[in-house]
This record gives sequence, C-alpha cells and structure tokens, in this order.
Amino acid sequence: MSKAKSSRDRRIAPPGVTRVTRSSINPQDSQRTKPTDSGLVNDLSLMSVSEQQALLAREGKSYQSPSTKSVLSSSSGTSMPREALGTIGRLMKLGRVRNIVVVAGAGISTASGIPDFRTPGTGLYANLAKYDIPYPEAIFNIDYFSDNPHPFFSLAKELYPGHHRPNYVHYFIRMLHQKGLLLRMYTQNIDGLEKMCGIPDDKLVEAHGSFATAACHLCYTPYPAEEAKQAIMNGNVPICTFCAGAVKPNVVFFGEDLPEKYFQHAEDFPKADLLMIMGTSLKIEPFASLINTVKSTVPRLLLNRDPVGPFERRPLRRGDYMELGDLSDSVRKLAEILGWHTEIQDLMNSHENGVCSYTDPSSSSGENSDSSETDSMH
Ligand code: OAD
Repeated sequence: MSKAKSSRDRRIAPPGVTRVTRSSINPQDSQRTKPTDSGLVNDLSLMSVSEQQALLAREGKSYQSPSTKSVLSSSSGTSMPREALGTIGRLMKLGRVRNIVVVAGAGISTASGIPDFRTPGTGLYANLAKYDIPYPEAIFNIDYFSDNPHPFFSLAKELYPGHHRPNYVHYFIRMLHQKGLLLRMYTQNIDGLEKMCGIPDDKLVEAHGSFATAACHLCYTPYPAEEAKQAIMNGNVPICTFCAGAVKPNVVFFGEDLPEKYFQHAEDFPKADLLMIMGTSLKIEPFASLINTVKSTVPRLLLNRDPVGPFERRPLRRGDYMELGDLSDSVRKLAEILGWHTEIQDLMNSHENGVCSYTDPSSSSGENSDSSETDSMH
C-alpha cells in the first residue's frame, strides 16, 4: 500500500488511544471547521472511536428530517424547497461550472448490487454475525486483523471485484470527465467500479485503497496482488516473504494511513467550483471533512437517500443543495436536465457490451484505455 509519508500525516497514538488515521464517526464537526482548516481534521483523526462517540453524545447530535425532498438555502438563511437539480443543472449549462469535484461512497454502488455499510438491515455492518467479531468495524481494523486476519479474509472473498458492474451513476461521473468538467473524483469505495467504467486513474482518488495491489500489513513490502487473491480465495493467509507478517490487499483499514494520492485534496478542493456528494453517510474521518474544504462560495450538491453531515442542520449553508431519494433516479433527472441521458445510456451500453467507442490518448494503457478524450459541453 502506498503510505502517507509526510511528517504531518504520520501519527503516534498517545497511550491508551487507538491511532485512528482513518477514523469512524464524524462528530458533526464541520460547522466548527474552517473551510481550509485541515488541522482540525487531523486532530479528529487521532480520536478513538469511543472518544468520538462520547463527543457525539455530549453534543446531543440531532437529526432534523427535511420537510421537502429538494432543498437549498436561501440568501435569507432560511431553508426553502427549491429545485436543487434544476438550479445546479442551469449553472452547468450556463458554463459557470468547470471544475467539479465528486465525493462518493457506497451508495453509488448499491444499484450494482453491492450493499452499503450502514443502512440498517441491508448494510454490510448489519450482516456480519457469521464472522463472530466483537463489533462490526473490527473487520476493517488493523489491530484486530493483526490478531486474527480470518474474518477479513472470509469477507474479502465476497468483496474482491469481479462480480459486479458499474451502474448509471458511475457512467454519469465518467460523462462529467468526458465533458471536461471533472476535476477529480474522491471515492471511499473499494469495489473498483469507477475504474471499470472508464474513469481514468489521473481523475480518481481511491481514498480507502483498493484490491488492485497487496502488501504486508506490518512491513508494507509489496506482494503480487494476484497471488494474494489466490491464497485468500483458497482459504490461506498470504505471508510476507520478508517479515512473515500477513499480507492483505491495500484496502485502508481503521488505524492505517491513507494513500499518498489522497493528499492531493489540498490542491483540488480549493480549485473546485462545484462539489457533488453522492451516496455517503459522511461518517468516516478524515474523508468526511473534505467537503468543508471547498471555498465557502462554492455550491455543494448532496445526492443521497438521507441528509448527512452538515446537510442535517438547518439552515443549510448558502449554496448547499440537496436532492434526497434514490441516487440513480436523482442522477438520471440531472442528466435529463443537462440533455445527457441518451449519451450516458449509449456509453453505458457500448461499454457494457464490450464496444469501446472512445480512445483516451492521455490515459495510461490498461483498464482505463477506453476512457474518452475529454470533451466540452460548451
Ligand atoms: P455508508 O453505508 O456509511 O453510507 C452510504 C450512504 O448512501 C447512506 O447515507 C445511504 O442512505 C446512502 N445510500 C445507499 N444506497 C443509496 C441509493 N440507492 N440512493 C441514495 N442513497 C443511497 O457508506 P460510506 O459512507 O461509503 O470502509 O462509508 C464510508 C466507509 O465506511 C467505507 O469506505 C467503508 C466503511 O467503513 C471500507 O471500505 C473499508
């Protein structure tokens, strides 16, 4: 795994505190987070899960159900129902948006048949009883893995990419790239569907890693990913040839550093002129706080089943828009407003049928070689 190397990002846990480089539970910090204050994000990432839960309880985290499906904040500071998709669509059609950053989570892949993590009943964390682990997130905890890698390896057999295909939402994001509007996509997903639909490597940050590479979890010595996969599929633990530690795919676990590429956010987010947040509960730090690092004047569009993170509060920040409901429906509506729907369907059909109608001379060879040369909607 690529490890974050800068001294700023290397953290030593104080005694009794689990080092949570990727930590769980976003304590609804964003209102206190200045737009570019990554210091607080880093402080938060040092908090143990129990400390963060205690903080949440102390702050009496409240949930306010939205009265309407489509909401934005008015200049007077009160929330009022408005056509969020229409407004964003108009901005895009007027050419006022040229550098979109997409922030995504498991909700973009549920239409591909992959459960998310936290939806009650269907989410992965509600369905781990057979693994006999002390708490659901232990399955992705590096200290727990060190003691007992078997639960993760059993689950990994199901999680390895290959059984699922990208859906309309993935292709919409790829279309943003083809139209020359995608500055970067930051995904928490480890299903590999972004790459599979043709979003090029240089447009994609897999913030929580992927199964594409593997390494020793102790000394980080790289290990051939295909060999690791074969061992895991055969019920064996792949062993590091250097230190005899267990090898795992480079999925980022709680307590591990995020990939080097993640830190590109410091340049990207200040450049964004539209932030699209899709299918995430915004519960995992430091990822969740990224959305607070765009300029305060930049519109943020949340497409999700429920309001999450700062979108749970009223009034919304000026320029915050949300469309609640099924993501595929919302994305399709936006695509229709933009006049892209048929183009996306054609792209999806040709790609899924193995007809690659695009060549991207700028992308490296391999998985992404059929992604398009970006074009412009203007
Ligand atoms: P979560 O499961 O926490 O959140 C998914 C969000 O998507 C929820 O708010 C759902 O309501 C919403 N959602 C799901 N399906 C949807 C649909 N069809 N339409 C609209 N909304 C939908 O997933 P993440 O936020 O991605 O770590 O979780 C972040 C991290 O937590 C993951 O990266 C994962 C986990 O620990 C690893 O991958 C190892």
